[in-house]
Amino acid sequence: MNMNRRSALGLLAVGGGAMAFGGYTWSRQSPLAKPRPLAIPPLLEGSLKDGVRHYDLEMGRHNTEFFPGVKTPTFGINGPYLGPTLRMQAGKAVQLNVTNTIGDTTTLHWHGMHLPAKADGGPHQVIADGGTWQPGFEIKQRAATLWYHSHKMSQTGFQVYHGLAGMIIVDDADTARLDLPNTYGVDDIPLVLQDRRFAPTGAFEYVSSMPDRMMGMVGNVLLVNGTPNPYFEAKTNTVRLRLLNGSNARIYRLSFADGRAFHQIASDGGLLRAPLKTQGLTLAPAERAEIIVDVSDGRPATLVSDTPDTGTMMGGGMMRMMRGEVAQFKVLEIRPGENRTPAVKLPTTLATIDAPDPSKAVKTRQFVLEMGMGMGMMMSRGGAMTINGRSMDINRIDEVVKVGTSEVWQIENPSPLAHPFHIHDVQFQVIHRNGRPPAASEQGFKDTVLVHPGERVRLLLNFADYSDAQSPYMFHCHILEHEDAGMMGQFTVV
Ligand code: C2O
Ligand code: CU
Ligand code: CU
Repeated sequence: MNMNRRSALGLLAVGGGAMAFGGYTWSRQSPLAKPRPLAIPPLLEGSLKDGVRHYDLEMGRHNTEFFPGVKTPTFGINGPYLGPTLRMQAGKAVQLNVTNTIGDTTTLHWHGMHLPAKADGGPHQVIADGGTWQPGFEIKQRAATLWYHSHKMSQTGFQVYHGLAGMIIVDDADTARLDLPNTYGVDDIPLVLQDRRFAPTGAFEYVSSMPDRMMGMVGNVLLVNGTPNPYFEAKTNTVRLRLLNGSNARIYRLSFADGRAFHQIASDGGLLRAPLKTQGLTLAPAERAEIIVDVSDGRPATLVSDTPDTGTMMGGGMMRMMRGEVAQFKVLEIRPGENRTPAVKLPTTLATIDAPDPSKAVKTRQFVLEMGMGMGMMMSRGGAMTINGRSMDINRIDEVVKVGTSEVWQIENPSPLAHPFHIHDVQFQVIHRNGRPPAASEQGFKDTVLVHPGERVRLLLNFADYSDAQSPYMFHCHILEHEDAGMMGQFTVV
């Protein structure tokens, strides 16, 4: 087994065997061995015209030097790779002016946003090459860390992998009132986690084998905001990290190398009821979490990740071995700087969240995620990726929901791999997982939920407004290769 998968560039390989969880060391001299400053995506606050905040975004085709002297063809938004962080205020109106110059059609989806379906940026809102798309809507949701990314039909995986993604920060009265670190790039740090694989030419390698297609594309180099092996110098003793799993398929199990505890304060849809003290956090593709780390002890705090084996042997373990997957990464080294400002005392309560009350639901729907695995799949070019036995058809509406109602959606996974299930337009609550109440980290609002093999997860959704019989929203697996292969469906709210 070639655990290193050493690239012909001779510099990108990470030594799998040398990466002990607690005492992380790079195994050989390479440009990766030298930590470099974490890139912080520029903040785009928009400009106010007639009470509406306007944001100009240009999606383009570029080259990015992730490694000195090595040019990687990428896509970016207002820059060579990824996009700016958009900051928005709850209760305010926004308009986005999105120009596409990538040399191909694309779309731009506001992941986690409650908005009219026409403004959603899903596969129906195609932006022609050279075209501009101008969705506008009001921010009718809580403060949260959201994101945006390409959602082009069948090519979301490719386009996101090459850089069409960015973060959105929504603020509201809760975040204004609470004493939480909120100075962007200083004590409030966006972290977009993406694993990538590089071809000998320096280009990103994308889906080069059957396991890449079946299990989703994973890489052996971790980029954080596009920076390999990053460090961040803390000027404060309390640091807030906004973690976004912007990877196509990898699940991260995050912790600090020295085992220090930290507090999770938010999930996908916003603040939790109270800070949750923990030593570890699992983040599936598209999920977000905000955490608070304390570096008052003056010691470096190194965020590391291990990838849990969430598949069954047939579904995960065997194929993982076949492609020699790297599972352990250093994510970010936080170096406490000189003269740090004192630690902030965390509020004891954060947000008011009622317990989910499924008795209000007018309907229960079932979604069964399948991937036609097994021997048949091994012989053929891959199984069918389906929800309720059907692959995505852009001309078929799968579900019709009544506006102003609540529903229970039960997601079942009889397949041998874990699937992060995402629903557009709503922030839902997890009622149970296999009949049991969810863990505290999942008791806030979410838009993506990881469903392990054999699991059955029940969600409570509230479809508050925006009826439109013509424009559907999507629900899908957020392993982008699964989504692109058809594990997606459409619903309208009427
Ligand atoms: Cu992150 Cu359908 O989206
Ligand atoms: Cu979405
Ligand atoms: Cu999936």
